Amino acid sequence: MSERSIGVTLLGCGVVGGGVVNILTQQRDLLRQRTGLTFDIRHIVVRDAGKHRGDLPVPLTTDAAAAIDDPGTQIVVELIGGTTTAGTHIERALKLGKPVVTANKSLLSARGGELFALARKHDTCIAFEASCGGGVPIVESLMKGLLANRIDALVGIVNGTCNVILTRMTRNGWTYDEALKEAQRLGFAEADPTLDVSGRDAAQKLALLASLAFNVGVAESDIHVEGIDTIQPTDIQFARDLGYVIKLLAIAERHVQGVGSKDPHHPGQAKPGEFLNLRVHPTLVHKDDVLAEVGGSFNAISVYGHALGHALFYGRGAGQMPTASAVVSDLLGVALGTTPLAFKQLRIFPDTTPRASVLPFHDLQSRYYLRLMVKDQPGVMGQVSQILGNHGISLSAILQRETDDGQNVPIVITTHRATEGPMRRALDQINALPTITPPTVCLRIIDQPKEFAGG
Ligand SMILES: NC(=O)c1ccc[n+]([C@@H]2O[C@H](COP(=O)([O-])OP(=O)(O)OC[C@H]3O[C@@H](n4cnc5c(N)ncnc54)[C@H](OP(=O)(O)O)[C@@H]3O)[C@@H](O)[C@H]2O)c1
Repeated sequence: MSERSIGVTLLGCGVVGGGVVNILTQQRDLLRQRTGLTFDIRHIVVRDAGKHRGDLPVPLTTDAAAAIDDPGTQIVVELIGGTTTAGTHIERALKLGKPVVTANKSLLSARGGELFALARKHDTCIAFEASCGGGVPIVESLMKGLLANRIDALVGIVNGTCNVILTRMTRNGWTYDEALKEAQRLGFAEADPTLDVSGRDAAQKLALLASLAFNVGVAESDIHVEGIDTIQPTDIQFARDLGYVIKLLAIAERHVQGVGSKDPHHPGQAKPGEFLNLRVHPTLVHKDDVLAEVGGSFNAISVYGHALGHALFYGRGAGQMPTASAVVSDLLGVALGTTPLAFKQLRIFPDTTPRASVLPFHDLQSRYYLRLMVKDQPGVMGQVSQILGNHGISLSAILQRETDDGQNVPIVITTHRATEGPMRRALDQINALPTITPPTVCLRIIDQPKEFAGG
């Protein structure tokens, strides 16, 4: 068995880059024993070399071009983040035929197709395990372990920040603002948390995962996105009373449509055929569902394969060492030759697949949770049920609590499966009633696994 040393340039040595240096230096012997490979860190590129302290194997540099161009650099690891500088450096490496390992979901969800094509043109590859689910080996699984399956659905908690916030709101009874402040204090949320709490980060990851799972090109803009910043403690409590937990879920589901849309207001849009239903939104998950137990910064991704059935991938979705674990496993895959081979052969990357046919969001079918603030007077519920009935929506449960002011009473309704378009129009009519104080809260409910198994 041959032994080889591989020259690596690290672009970025922050949270994740620091973890990669740690594993490559501290676990050098273990990696060599297991694989016959040692990684020789040739350059570490940062923005400001002066601010770094600590024990690093090579002096820091700000000259990315020289580091990438160095003939001794065989693999480039991009851990800068963002789409501009990182994109330029990745292009440079690929044009030299050097493989790139990256954790950058923003860049890949925006320009993945183009960069994958560039890699292919120069007979090299991009590895990106750490871009989705941190340390959870979901990309590798979709590229290998699950390949024999037609994937019917992928349902994931893929944003640790949102999960930390919702977990605190659920377990401690905190408001969104209290939970966000605590998440920021503990380093789970950025000073500007918009990318995370808006659901966009989860959508970027879903775009990448859905592309691999369904072998179609998915863009972030294909995904319906709702964030968690409007979730109120009262909805968490009502959900709990009904036996549910609220989670931010990223969902991609294969949808086989028959003879056209059931929504008479959009008859032309939904064609028969196979569509992807793509969405990120706060969701009521039954308390017995495995996803309900996924707390704090953990991620979990349920995958439904036609042969395997339901499988769950669970682990740390972010943080220094879990993310570095995924980056180093990519380095090994590239150096061992398995990743370049898969990249060359598989037709699952966005530059090798057709664009997804996306199910229009108004054709989504789901169960719903509605919270209405109604004037405490007779007949209101009759009006509300009538409107829902007129749109073909049938009620599953109704929950009412008394309030102090005696004026407005929260009423929670759960429905049987209904279609999004009619639900939206029913809500417009309900919100216009003089007895209702808008807006009515509308969240979706999922029933794993029965809703997603088989399709
Ligand atoms: N943190 C996580 O838990 C996590 C999880 C999954 C994926 N990721 C992804 O991993 C990547 C890195 O994240 P991170 O948390 O490690 O970021 P970070 O801590 O902010 O580190 C970024 C590094 O990039 C360097 N850098 C920034 N701009 C640069 C430029 N123009 N030229 C050269 N170097 C530059 C910084 O240099 P200075 O040190 O001099 O500022 C720093 O070393 C991102 O794509 C992120 O989305 C992170």
